Amino acid sequence: MINRTRRTRSSQTMRDLVANVTFSLDNLVYPIFVEEGQNIKKEIPSMPGQFRLSIDNLKEELQEIKNLGIKSLLVFGIPEANKKDPVGTEAYNDNGIVQEAVRFIKKEFPEFLLITDVCMCEYTSHGHCGLLNGEEVLNDETVELLCKIAISHVKAGADMVAPSDMMDGRIAAMRKALDKEGFVNVPIMAYSIKYASSYYGPFRDAADSAPSFGDRKAYQMDYRNSKDYLIEARNDINEGADIIMVKPGMPYLDVVKAIADSIDLPVAVYNVSGEYSMVKAASQMGWIDEKKIVMENMYAMRRAGASIIITYHAKDIAKWMEK
Ligand code: PBG
Ligand code: ZN
Repeated sequence: MINRTRRTRSSQTMRDLVANVTFSLDNLVYPIFVEEGQNIKKEIPSMPGQFRLSIDNLKEELQEIKNLGIKSLLVFGIPEANKKDPVGTEAYNDNGIVQEAVRFIKKEFPEFLLITDVCMCEYTSHGHCGLLNGEEVLNDETVELLCKIAISHVKAGADMVAPSDMMDGRIAAMRKALDKEGFVNVPIMAYSIKYASSYYGPFRDAADSAPSFGDRKAYQMDYRNSKDYLIEARNDINEGADIIMVKPGMPYLDVVKAIADSIDLPVAVYNVSGEYSMVKAASQMGWIDEKKIVMENMYAMRRAGASIIITYHAKDIAKWMEK
């Protein structure tokens, strides 16, 4: 036999020598949920190990995250329920929950790279990602508000904004708006390729952001299409995105791979709430080895070509890597 591929798998040292996919904490972004109010630390039932915290409870948590070696955070805000309205006014309040959280974190822990999710669904009474006309989510009118949200986040100290709304043309508009305010060096990580996915279910519990009627299929992508992801990436690149994100992660690695192979910008993948919950549930049942499964998933996303992995497993991974 000429080819015996096992020759280069014969020992740990040999395997380490030939391995060409790397993974480190530097690749990770950890999402956090900050809720308006005092003395809140509520575990999210469908996301064991993930909490909603009020700002007064953030310090201890952030100290732990920092000590673990995690360097980047994606900040989500949960406003008081009575502050939601049909047009999401609270989303661009300079003293809103995300803005205050960002200000607090920048002051206490300036070394974190702070990314903010820019969307309206946590702030609208109907839970959709934009303004409505009847049951339709209005594109252009929403884009204007998204620009206001992004600017208020950056003014508060965000290092990068991540629009997750899926309106058309929002990257170009946001780039222009940020530049006009002098924020020419603040990058945009675009949720460019974002599918209308049931994998976001646990997140919507976590952020109280489920739509009160219908679904998001008229603006998020249809997973039955194997071509439109290229259009989405191209549009956002042409509009000035700095990082292209694919979301969800694990079921869409074909897309991550195709995008990573065809574009030159850094690619991020969002290992979303439903993916996390499935792993947690199966591991709580004792059906899988959580640590091994999570690490295999991380390498799979890296192998597909993602530079950046946004994952709720980040703290667990950091703890495992310490040992
Ligand atoms: C807001 C937003 C969502 C997620 C990130 N930003 C929910 C949605 O679009 O419904 C999902 C994150 C996750 O499931 O972990 N638009
Ligand atoms: Zn949204």
